[in-house]
Amino acid sequence: SDPDLVARARAARDALGDRAFVLGHHYQRDEVIQFADVTGDSFKLAREAAARPDAEYIVFCGVHFMAESADILTGDHQQVVLPDLAAGCSMADMARLRQVEDAWDALGAAGVAESVVPVTYMNSSADIKAFCGRHDGVVCTSSNAKRALDWAFASKDGTAAPDAMPTKVLFLPDQHLGRNTAVLEMGFSLDDCVVWDPHRPGGGLTEQELRDARVILWKGHCSVHGRFSAEVGRELRRTLPGVQLLVHPECRHEVVLEADLVGSTEFIINTVRAAPPGSIWAIGTELNLVRRLAAEHPEQQITFLDKTVCYCSTMNRIDLPHLVWALESLVAGTVVNRISVDADTEHWARVALERMLALPG
Ligand code: 13P
Ligand code: SF4
Repeated sequence: SDPDLVARARAARDALGDRAFVLGHHYQRDEVIQFADVTGDSFKLAREAAARPDAEYIVFCGVHFMAESADILTGDHQQVVLPDLAAGCSMADMARLRQVEDAWDALGAAGVAESVVPVTYMNSSADIKAFCGRHDGVVCTSSNAKRALDWAFASKDGTAAPDAMPTKVLFLPDQHLGRNTAVLEMGFSLDDCVVWDPHRPGGGLTEQELRDARVILWKGHCSVHGRFSAEVGRELRRTLPGVQLLVHPECRHEVVLEADLVGSTEFIINTVRAAPPGSIWAIGTELNLVRRLAAEHPEQQITFLDKTVCYCSTMNRIDLPHLVWALESLVAGTVVNRISVDADTEHWARVALERMLALPG
């Protein structure tokens, strides 16, 4: 990266000192991640943001929903900055509040809303998290989805009438994380899961299907992780004997079934760090992270589980010029690109986020 910009970022960072705290998600570019005070997966970054009450500014190098969550979990005296406002998440955009409310109404019309607990993946807008807070639901991330679902299914125990329908979960917005967790970690069958398509009347489901389902999956997905295929995994097993497939749970079910290990970005990093020299990996997650891991571990053989280049284009929106601009503006006393969630949304989203942070384990 441009040495002049690196020097400017360094100078601005030093000038801000403890007044600013810079968080960096693992998918960020190398040129940006070098300035992060802490790096992590979405769960770790949410906890880190909540644990910095003294920082006036939280500079979030990640995507919009992460910065919103940081704003929700930090105090009113703190300001969260997202260096480029165009850093969204196409998966989070697949669930709009209006659509989720329509689905909830349809669940009511089918007579099942009473038994449904909404669970939203962190990768959702603040108003969807608030919806979950208002309806006794919870947020989860890729590192605690099983614990959140265990909590959701248990949360109605003892409160429901003895002849009530068994508890169901409405899982938003990533159908793959929901299915992979319910089927591979909790013993549900594929038949227990149905997919609610927000673009079809009634979600494309009959009332009977809604009554029979245990897990109602929102039809959302990550376009980056959707590129990985089980076929490429099988081919690598033939051409690279000893290879282990290590993938993120946002991958499609057939890919996760083919994999040896599955987990969040932080899990992927810790798994590689703990592996002996000579380990061979094909990793199914975003490319900035896989390339960085390969550079950090020359004693291991690390390849990408796809034949094409596969960055998250919105994560990549945060580049060094945007970071320099955000930091220098703060030094000059101007807060640019502040992410601020309105008070009512913030209250209910915090209820759902704090339920997640309080999950056991
Ligand atoms: P992690 O929570 O594993 O960091 O994942 C966030 C994300 O956006 C993956 O696509
Ligand atoms: Fe969203 Fe996928 Fe990018 Fe993660 S990798 S931020 S889920 S688009």
